[in-house]
Amino acid sequence: MAVILGIETSCDETAAALVTWDGEIASSVVASQDQLHAPFGGVVPEVASRRHLELVAPVIEEALAGAGAGLDDVGAVAVTTWPGLIGALLVGVSAAKALAWARRLPLMPVNHLHGHVASLYLRPLDLEPPFTCLLASGGHTMLLDVRDRGGYRVLGTTLDDAAGEAFDKGARLLGLGYPGGRQIDELAKQGDPAAYEFPVARVPGLDFSFSGLKTAVLRLVRSLEEKDPGRFPVGDVAASFQKAIVEALAEKTARAAAEHGVRSVMLGGGVAANGPLRAEIQRRIGVPLHVPPPRLCTDNGAMIGAAAFFSMRHRGAEMPAGVRSNLPLA
Ligand code: KG4
Ligand code: ZN
Repeated sequence: MAVILGIETSCDETAAALVTWDGEIASSVVASQDQLHAPFGGVVPEVASRRHLELVAPVIEEALAGAGAGLDDVGAVAVTTWPGLIGALLVGVSAAKALAWARRLPLMPVNHLHGHVASLYLRPLDLEPPFTCLLASGGHTMLLDVRDRGGYRVLGTTLDDAAGEAFDKGARLLGLGYPGGRQIDELAKQGDPAAYEFPVARVPGLDFSFSGLKTAVLRLVRSLEEKDPGRFPVGDVAASFQKAIVEALAEKTARAAAEHGVRSVMLGGGVAANGPLRAEIQRRIGVPLHVPPPRLCTDNGAMIGAAAFFSMRHRGAEMPAGVRSNLPLA
């Protein structure tokens, strides 16, 4: 068996996976640090780095064991190098470098965003560009134009908070736990999305801005609390707040898809789990919408292995000979 070992430590997931030389996931292990950061209502970079340090080796070992593989089966090591929290990235990169050096394997740097896009090419999804991709998570909000499996072009990005970050900050103001997106999604089901009007910043082009929303939530919660302490309609606020984020994302995604004449739209990142977001995008686009399963939407090592694998294949490169191939180190 010849596999690529993909390592991801850019934020608060320590992840490793083995991707086979025909685009299949042989194993994927994700250790999430959600609960570690929950008391702070967001990821604490230093805490994340230290936890990655504890987890990275066991997670890699578990990924190998899960596939019934050993280091002799690994033909290349792929690792997220950017974007992400610098200390967190350093842990994954150091582990990948050490392994690649010790085993004389090629080391493949992967852009995290390319990883999210490449997760769509893994089997059984096996999706073909061209498509428009909306990546929305706690760390990024981006619209991408994907023409081939070798890369992508950024069409728009957030000018301030990421969409998931906006969900998390809003949730904190509503007294909910971290991460807050899923809880807002749940609570909003019992609320009226038309109950309150939240301002959505009008940003030109295909960029986004969500930072004004949290001030609006803060003001609203304060005034509701003054009127009726401890009893404000949290479901209505959650539904109205969610509607504002969903509309901004859906409107620009539909516009990007129309402007680029694509045959389909893809969603990625943790926010892709949001029910109303999927429904609203599907309502606005005239082409199919694809959403990978949650385990591939959120950060994982398979997407990093996939980005390395598919860009190599796009360039017509051969699978590295593998075991102790004596390839020069990058
Ligand atoms: O991709 P992801 O797991 O990783 C990081 O950003 O690290 O995304 C996590 C983000 C969090 O901000 C979370 O609140 C948001 O995705 N999220 C959701 C939902 N599930 C997770 N946002 C809205 N609706 C959801 N159902
Ligand atoms: Zn991500």
